Amino acid sequence: MRILVTGHAGFIGFHTARALLREGHEVHGLDSVNDYYDVNLKHRRLAQLQDQPGFSETHASLEDHESLLALFERFRPEVVIHLAAQAGVRYSVENPRAYLGANMVGSFNMLEACRFFPVKHLLLASTSSAYGANEKFPFEETDHAVHPITLYAASKGAMELMAHSYAHLFGTPTTAFRFFTVYGPWGRPDMAYFLFTRAILEGRPIALFNHGESWRDFTFIDDLVGSIRRLVDCVPPAADAREGMSAIPGDSLSPVAPYRLVNIGAGQPEKVTTLVDALEKALGVPAKRELKPRPPGDVVKTFANTDLLQALTGQRPSTPLDAGIPKFVEWYRGHYN
Ligand SMILES: NC(=O)c1ccc[n+]([C@@H]2O[C@H](COP(=O)([O-])OP(=O)(O)OC[C@H]3O[C@@H](n4cnc5c(N)ncnc54)[C@H](O)[C@@H]3O)[C@@H](O)[C@H]2O)c1
Repeated sequence: MRILVTGHAGFIGFHTARALLREGHEVHGLDSVNDYYDVNLKHRRLAQLQDQPGFSETHASLEDHESLLALFERFRPEVVIHLAAQAGVRYSVENPRAYLGANMVGSFNMLEACRFFPVKHLLLASTSSAYGANEKFPFEETDHAVHPITLYAASKGAMELMAHSYAHLFGTPTTAFRFFTVYGPWGRPDMAYFLFTRAILEGRPIALFNHGESWRDFTFIDDLVGSIRRLVDCVPPAADAREGMSAIPGDSLSPVAPYRLVNIGAGQPEKVTTLVDALEKALGVPAKRELKPRPPGDVVKTFANTDLLQALTGQRPSTPLDAGIPKFVEWYRGHYN
């Protein structure tokens, strides 16, 4: 397949592009390689892709809609996996404007490009943050998710809604994933597991927000990429093409459009202190824990229902923290010497 992966210099995009290239697909990456975090890390990821057969790339911003259309005209993707975004929950409280460009204008441009150059399947990265202040656990795709508590969450929710309207109007088959706290080798330096690792090794204290009483559904990168890959083949059917198909219980398939939401998470919330225990064990160094209040925009708990993912793909993420964290630590030690 000819697959466009946006955000391929980023954590998840890099792993996704690499896995698709290994399968022999033709992959084009689109990324602005911005400096939200260490650009060297992004360039080192890119270097791993650049010598692979079947790989090509464009360094441009999603907001540049003319470049995006020109790229579609040249590459004619059959599948688009749209992962590029301004990520980060906490940063969105300090700098909300950053989220409008990439996540709203950029995603809109992607929808327009898929309207003029139709694709077999558009897959979009949304987030568990879309569940916002919901307190019904586990989070199910059919739950109302209308109370985002950060602009990051609101921008991703807006992307989901825009994509639904395009799926309805122009028939673009669309799957929006909601990812739950993804971690692993080549990870994102602004995320807790990465910040904690650095601080523990440098002997600095780590901040445990909400006094350590927070839970996250930690998802190992290889599991996530496996789920993305399998979902590429699960194209949501158009509303008028469903006759004779048996309905999946709990399916989020839209009644009026080829559009579906799918959680990708471990389905196993862990206390953040369990993450710290796993890091201490893998690093062989004790952490200096500092208990802090919950910052604005942070949710207490995330917890994915993964029944739909299992029904669609036959699998769900299963790597526990004490197997995934040592892999991250091994990469970190090798990478940063
Ligand atoms: N990592 C997680 O735990 C997590 C959880 C939920 C959702 N997500 C979503 O998954 C996707 C990938 O996340 P990630 O962790 O790999 O983040 P990342 O920051 O590592 O990767 C995002 C990439 O997008 C690029 N980018 C940003 N704005 C752009 C723009 N306007 N034009 C072109 N490129 C641009 C960046 O340069 C970066 O390389 C994002 O959409 C994110 O919101 C991630």
